[in-house]
Amino acid sequence: MVYTVTFNPAIDYVVRMDRLVPGSVNRTKSEQIYYGGKGINVSIVLKELGVPSKALCFVAGFTGEAIESGLGAMGIETDFVKLAKGNSRINMKVKADEETEINGQGPDISDTAVKELFKKLERLEGGDILVLAGSIPSSLPPDIYERILERLQGRNIKAVVDAAGELLMRVLKYEPFLIKPNSLELGEMFGVTIESDEQIETYANKLRELGAKNVLVSMAGDGSMLIDENGAVIRQGVCKGEVRNSVGAGDSMVAGFIAGSLKGDTAYALRLATAAGGATAFSDGLAERKLIDELIKTL
Ligand SMILES: Nc1ncnc2c1ncn2[C@@H]1O[C@H](COP(=O)(O)OP(=O)(O)OP(=O)(O)O)[C@@H](O)[C@H]1O
Ligand SMILES: [Mg+2]
Repeated sequence: MVYTVTFNPAIDYVVRMDRLVPGSVNRTKSEQIYYGGKGINVSIVLKELGVPSKALCFVAGFTGEAIESGLGAMGIETDFVKLAKGNSRINMKVKADEETEINGQGPDISDTAVKELFKKLERLEGGDILVLAGSIPSSLPPDIYERILERLQGRNIKAVVDAAGELLMRVLKYEPFLIKPNSLELGEMFGVTIESDEQIETYANKLRELGAKNVLVSMAGDGSMLIDENGAVIRQGVCKGEVRNSVGAGDSMVAGFIAGSLKGDTAYALRLATAAGGATAFSDGLAERKLIDELIKTL
């Protein structure tokens, strides 16, 4: 089973209008609701790819209940830690002549709630995959990912970590199966500005030396570079299409790589990752199966 963890899930309220005029009453042309958060995104794209997963999230209040029932209606299994106070956030995304976002903070996560997550993670079995994706709320200690992987050590659970900075650096010693920084995040981790493939290879290799098995560095419209478990370097281009919204392309790439590696070899996993990332970039929401299937044929 694949488990995804989302510490600060959200309801994304996406509205479209011609122009946003601050300080006045604005009216929308359309409204959409998406359930968001990086772990949730991975679960949604895995579902498209026919891979069941269980989404573990911290939620609170009526918005938390909406996320639970919304994901349930999409056929995604959930196992949530319910926080006693607050409400899960609603992020406001205004798509007008410009794009404006107002993102909430989300509820505080108590120590008791973290313990509850740890209890849920005890149920993981050998061969399971655990996806830790995204940054963490400020109410959590910066070693939370590390503490999770420390507890899972020696149980043959494959960890996938899509995070940056300290959060990522600290988990490498637990030899995660896959990490997926983008090139900006990779540069920031080493205090450099990345300008070439050679640099990407150098720093991705450093992350491998520190313990990560597969290091996948994404570069948005410039594709990606994978250094796999055996140290082989594969430079992958992108699928062609009209970009509509690339938010979540990285999460889709993670889902594609997981689904691909369950079904085939590393090269196939990278192609499925690329098709899933592209399908999200070329869609308003997240990647759908039909487009992923079309795009992978072009690689
Ligand atoms: N403009 C694009 N055209 C084609 N493919 C794209 C484009 N943007 C992203 N992709 C695909 O998605 C992959 C991941 O994208 P990107 O590097 O933007 O991830 P990210 O920065 O982690 O995104 P996020 O964290 O918002 O999910 C790329 O390697 C590529 O395969
Ligand atoms: Mg990302």
